[in-house]
Amino acid sequence: MMKAFTWAALLVTGVVAMAQTATFDTTTKVFRLNGGNVSYVFGVNERGELQQMYWGGRLGAEDTFPQAKPMMGWASFDSPYTTTPQEYAGWGAGLFVEPALKVTFPDGNRDLVLHYASHTVTASGVDVVMKDIERPLFVTLHYAMDPASGILARSATIENRGTTAVTVEQAAAAAWALPAGHYTLNYLTGRWAGEWTLTQETLHPGARVIESRRGTTGHQANPWFAIQAGGPSEDSGEVWFGALAWSGSWRITVEQDQLDAVRVTGGFNPFDFGYVLHPGEKLETPVFYGGYSAHGMGGASRLLHHFEIAHILPHRIGTGEDAAPKPRPVIYNSWEATEFNVTEAGQIALAERAAALGVDRFVMDDGWFGQRKDDHAGLGDWYVNPQKFPHGLKPLIDKVHALGMDFGLWVEPEMVNPNSDLYRKHPDWVLNFPGRPRTEQRNQLVLNLARPDVKEYVLDFLDKLLTENDIAFLKWDYNRNWSEPGWDQLPPAEQKKVYVAFTENLYSILAELHKRHPKVELESCSGGGGRVDLGILRYADEVWPSDNTDPFDRLSQQYGFTYAYTPQIMMAWVTDSPHWLNKRSTSLTYRMLSSMEGSLGIGADITKWNNEEMATAKRLIAAYHQVQRTIVQGAQYRLISPLNGSEFSATQTVNQDQSQSVVFLYIHSTQEGRLFPLLKLKGLDPKADYALTSIEGKAMPDTPAVASGAWWMNHGLQMDGDFRGDFQAAAFRLDRK
Ligand code: DGJ
Repeated sequence: MMKAFTWAALLVTGVVAMAQTATFDTTTKVFRLNGGNVSYVFGVNERGELQQMYWGGRLGAEDTFPQAKPMMGWASFDSPYTTTPQEYAGWGAGLFVEPALKVTFPDGNRDLVLHYASHTVTASGVDVVMKDIERPLFVTLHYAMDPASGILARSATIENRGTTAVTVEQAAAAAWALPAGHYTLNYLTGRWAGEWTLTQETLHPGARVIESRRGTTGHQANPWFAIQAGGPSEDSGEVWFGALAWSGSWRITVEQDQLDAVRVTGGFNPFDFGYVLHPGEKLETPVFYGGYSAHGMGGASRLLHHFEIAHILPHRIGTGEDAAPKPRPVIYNSWEATEFNVTEAGQIALAERAAALGVDRFVMDDGWFGQRKDDHAGLGDWYVNPQKFPHGLKPLIDKVHALGMDFGLWVEPEMVNPNSDLYRKHPDWVLNFPGRPRTEQRNQLVLNLARPDVKEYVLDFLDKLLTENDIAFLKWDYNRNWSEPGWDQLPPAEQKKVYVAFTENLYSILAELHKRHPKVELESCSGGGGRVDLGILRYADEVWPSDNTDPFDRLSQQYGFTYAYTPQIMMAWVTDSPHWLNKRSTSLTYRMLSSMEGSLGIGADITKWNNEEMATAKRLIAAYHQVQRTIVQGAQYRLISPLNGSEFSATQTVNQDQSQSVVFLYIHSTQEGRLFPLLKLKGLDPKADYALTSIEGKAMPDTPAVASGAWWMNHGLQMDGDFRGDFQAAAFRLDRK
C-alpha cells in the first residue's frame, strides 16, 4: 500500500497539490486532515461514495488506511447505502437515515445519488466535488482544518449545471459520523429569560432533533452539540462537538441508527424550506464546525473558546495583539434604570455616576428615537426624538467623552411598529401573506430584510447614524421571531427563499458596516440570548446572553453558556436588588462577582447607589480590569457545577502562559454548616510558584501566601470557615512569582 504523502512533499514532486493540514493517498483514495490533536479521515469507497472513516485523536504520520469499504447492509431492510456513514448523502437509492441533500427535479424525479468527481486544493484543506450519478447536479464539499485546534470547518456548495430548475428541499452543511457505541448527548435549551440550560441525555436509537423554525437562532435551542463517549465527564473522556454558523432557521439531527452508529446532520432547517436553483445557480450552505477533545467536556469547551477568539470573532483594527478581540470595555447600560424613559439630563446623570465607577463605555438603550415612549411605537423611525434630545445626540455623546468613556447606542433594525411613519409609508415591507392577519409580538412586525429595498433602507439609516454621530458600539436587538413568513413580491415557488436571503442580507449589512465603520463594535442581542451562534459572531464582538440578570440564575446560565461560547463575549450586568424577575435580594458584592465571571457591565440605577455601594463597585471594577484578560480569554475550568440545586459552584481561568489564574467561588445556600469544599485548582504550571491574592473573601488563615502550582492543584485552596451563608461569593487571583 502506498504511503500517504505529506502535502509539502507532493508540492515538490508536483504530483498532487494539497494543503499542509491534508494528505491524499492516490492509490487508496483516502483523504486525511490533521490539526492540533485531531485527525479526520474520509475516502472514496468502491462504489464512488464519500465515506467517513475516522474522526478522533491524531494518528501517526505513517499510519495508513485501505480504501473505504461500504458497510454491510442489514438483511433486506437496510441497504449498504443507508448503513454506510456517508460524508454527504443525497436522498435516494434506499437511504433511510437523515439525508444531507434532498432535491426535486422538474420531471418529478427525487432520486439523488452523489459520487466523487474530483478534488482541488485549498490553503487549509480540500474541496471535494461530487456529482449525481446521472444528472448535472454538483455538490462541492469544503473542508478547512484549523492547524492549532483541529476544529474542522465544513460546508457545501450545491450547483445546478443543468438546463432546468431544481428545487432544493433539504440542504445540510455537513454530516458527521461516530461508530456504534454508548454516548451522552449534550445540548443547550431554554426560553426567554431562561436560556443556556445544559441538557444531557443518553443517546438511544432514534433521532433527537434540535432546531429553530423561527427564522432566527432562537432562545429555545442553540445550534451546538457535544457527544461524549460513555457518561458525562468534565475532565476526561472523548468528546465530539459541533456548532453551526447560521442565524436563520436551522436544524441539527442527532441520530443513532439501528446498528447503534451515530450521525449528526445539520444545516438549513428543512421545515418550510424550498430553494429553487435555476440553471447555473448555486446555493451555499452555512458552515458547520466540528471538533474533538480527549479531555472531557471541559477540554472541548476550551478548544472552542480559543477557536472562537482566534478565528470567528471580528478582528477589528491594528496588528498583532491589537487586532485580536480585546477584552470588552466595562459598560454601563441604561435599560434597567430608565427603560424607554431616556432624556438628555437623565442619561448624563447616569453617565457621571458610571464614570465615577471606572466604567469604560456608556450605552444608551431603547427609547431615544422616533415616537418611542413605550414598545407600541417608533421602531423603524430612526431619527432622534426631538422632545427627549432637543439638540440631537451630540451633547450627550460629548459629555460621555468628556467623562472619559466611549458611547454606544441601541438599535433594532429589522423590526417595525405598525405605529410608525415607516410602516405607514411601506406596509408591504413586512413579512406577511397578503390578505391574512399579521401577528404582532411586542407590538411589532418583522421587516422583510430579504427584499433589496428593505436591505438598502436598513444599511442606509445605520450608515447615516454612524457617520453623523461618534458612536463606538451598537447594541443590535431583535425582539420577536417570525410569523407568516411570506415574501409576496416573488413568484409562489420562489417565496421560501426568504429563509436564506433574509439571513444572508443581514450578514451582508453587517459586513458592509464593518467595512465602512471598522472601529464600531457590535453586540448581538435578541431579547437576551436569542441570536447567539457562530454565524453572527463573525460580526458581533459580544452578545447579551439573557434578559435575566438575577445574579444567582446567571451562574447557571453562564455555566451552560460556556459549554459552547467563550466568556469573552458573555456580557453580564450588575443590576438592582431585589431583582425584578425573581424578587430575590442579594448583596452588591455577590452581584458584582457573579458578573465578573464574564464580561462585566453595570445595568443598575446607579443614581440611587449610596457611597458605600459606589465604593464597592469602584474597587471591584478596578480589580476586574487588572485580571480581565485572564478571566475572559484564559483556559476556563468549571470546577464545581451550580446545576441541580448544588450548594456551591466555582470556576477558574488560567491565562495562556500560565502566569496568572483567577478563581470564583459561590455559595448558593449553606446547609448543615457545611464548609466550602477544598478546591483543587487546575491548569497551573506545577513547578512555578504562585502568590495568592484575595479579590474578595478570605482563605483559611494558614493558607500559604506563595505556593507551587503543584500545591494549589494537589493540596487545594481551603476557604475560611466564615465563608458560609446565602448568596455568598469570593474571588482570588494567583500570580506567578
Ligand atoms: C431586549 C433586550 O434584551 C434588553 O436588554 C433591552 O435592550 C430591551 N430589549 C429594549 O427594548
